[in-house]
Amino acid sequence: IQNERDSQYIVSSWAKDHYHGLLLKTEEGMGVGYGYLRERGLNLTTIQTFELGYSLDQWDDLLKAAEAAGYQLKYLEKTGLVVQRQDEQGHDTGRRYDRFRGRVMFPIHNISGRVVGFGARTLKRDDKMAKYLNSPESEIYHKSDVLYGLFQARQAIRQEELCYLVEGYLDVLSLHQGGIKNVVASSGTSLTEGQIRLIRRYTENVTVLYDGDAAGIKASLRGVDLLLEGGLNVRVVLFPDGDDPDSYIRKVGDQRFAAYVEQQSQDFIAFKTTLVAREASHDPVKKAEAIRDVLHSIAKVPDGLKRQVFLQQTAATFGMDEQVIITEYNKLLKAAP
Ligand code: CTP
Ligand code: MN
Ligand code: MN
Ligand code: MN
Ligand code: MN
Repeated sequence: IQNERDSQYIVSSWAKDHYHGLLLKTEEGMGVGYGYLRERGLNLTTIQTFELGYSLDQWDDLLKAAEAAGYQLKYLEKTGLVVQRQDEQGHDTGRRYDRFRGRVMFPIHNISGRVVGFGARTLKRDDKMAKYLNSPESEIYHKSDVLYGLFQARQAIRQEELCYLVEGYLDVLSLHQGGIKNVVASSGTSLTEGQIRLIRRYTENVTVLYDGDAAGIKASLRGVDLLLEGGLNVRVVLFPDGDDPDSYIRKVGDQRFAAYVEQQSQDFIAFKTTLVAREASHDPVKKAEAIRDVLHSIAKVPDGLKRQVFLQQTAATFGMDEQVIITEYNKLLKAAP
């Protein structure tokens, strides 16, 4: 009577329990996995809340355990927990092995709390190894329709009427543990419309806390435009270069972190203006480009009144006459509606 999707949910939930058990009940899990999470400052409550786990450093631990528990191989493969070994010609050799080995496991929940996939971090410092491995797309896991941590954050988002958006798993965990529970991660990928729709079910207000490196800043700029198109109010906080929310909260502590976010949080227009203005400095050509860049973002705001306010602000920050900015804005709309 169970359909395909149900079977995939069931095996994913079982795998989550298996990994969680390995983390807390085996020598390897406690020593290496739990040891790693402790080193990163996470406590048992956080580990339990997010149902973190550990995959043994073996080829077929999950495979064997699943077989012993009576789960069909088919569903382990469909959810990507187990992988077919192929020969050089790409033919199935009939052999199978675990996708996740020797990694800390981050189950990814949908909004009803069911596990749909996993993120997995290596504990090795070896550069050749991908730092994170993730579940592949499946019938139950669509990466672009999921936000990590949303299940644990949704009540706080409603209560605070605000959603903090970060890049990574560890950012979510550290902030949640530090008392900022209204936080979700886009998990490295650039933000999608599906993810924005999800946020909008809970709040209209988003504060983007991306990594303080060039990649993080670029990602925030791209993400912001999409958030604006979704009709959300967007604020942005920049972290010092080299820090991400996780490393920064660990460095300065919960209270100073909260104060920093409060003080540094700026409206997206102010953020983008500072950024592009900094790059443009005194070059008039670049300054004109920078202004147009900001106007493009403003054009994405669905609310007309908000657009007006943003246009006024832009004029003020660039020290331009408001009428000039509005004329330019209207020109831009005609050119590329
Ligand atoms: N990511 C990924 N695959 C990678 C690198 C990153 O899926 N090879 C995703 C993960 O969701 C990760 C996020 O992008 O959490 C942000 O990447 P990054 O900032 O590099 O990692 P951190 O989350 O900061 O991880 P850590 O602090 O453990 O290094
Ligand atoms: Mn989809
Ligand atoms: Mn980064
Ligand atoms: Mn990071
Ligand atoms: Mn990090």
